[in-house]
Amino acid sequence: MLLLAFVVGFAAVSAEPSQICREAFYKSGLSTNYNETIAHAVHSMSVEGLRLFDPMASEQNKIPTVNQDLSQDQKVLNYAPHFHTSTDFATSTMNMIDKILSTVGNSKDGLGPHWSSVERIAHVFHMWDLWQKIYETSWQEVLATPPEAPTCVCLRDTRANGIKAAVEWVANHYETGTPITLLNRPIPKLTDAQAWSVWKDRLLHYYTPAALHDAAVYLYCVTHH
Ligand SMILES: *[C@@H]1O[C@H](CO)[C@@H](O)[C@H](O)[C@H]1NC(C)=O
Repeated sequence: MLLLAFVVGFAAVSAEPSQICREAFYKSGLSTNYNETIAHAVHSMSVEGLRLFDPMASEQNKIPTVNQDLSQDQKVLNYAPHFHTSTDFATSTMNMIDKILSTVGNSKDGLGPHWSSVERIAHVFHMWDLWQKIYETSWQEVLATPPEAPTCVCLRDTRANGIKAAVEWVANHYETGTPITLLNRPIPKLTDAQAWSVWKDRLLHYYTPAALHDAAVYLYCVTHH
């Protein structure tokens, strides 16, 4: 374990995971683009979202997320913050829509200036939908067969394993557009059914068993230690 910590610590200076981490990831069945599948799953994670996986979750977590206030210099936070909604409306859905629409125009919802109101609403509910999908599928498998300790040591080191860099990629691309995947493909404005069919396809991109598994293993490692 000591040797492992030493090797992982050294890997932190490079962007690529060490050989030990690469082998651990391979053994755990992580995909080769785990940096992108995991960064996508957590880039807008909140304490409330995390509580799906760990009811005791707080802001004392080490999950890199895009800063909700992208006007600040620091574009990526080292933790997932709260997503507080009011209780003015009766349902949590309407209270979430209230929260989203209350930040339109001040770019305080972690998406930057380019998203329309309906795109912002689609993004928030897409992320909740993905977290729910992870919880219902791969999460249950990972609980039954948890990753080994080296995998978790390596996955938690998001600076060395490239996950933080991929979250930074997302934050940087919010300055110029509305990326849904990390593939750098252009996407139309969400103005009609035709555009929605493109958006729907993109939103479902990381719903594959491999992508869900990557995210579940990472979420296991950051909620169990
Ligand atoms: C993810 O990792 C791959 C392989 O190291 C790299 O080519 C790619 O640029 C990374 N993606 C991001 C968004 O950082």
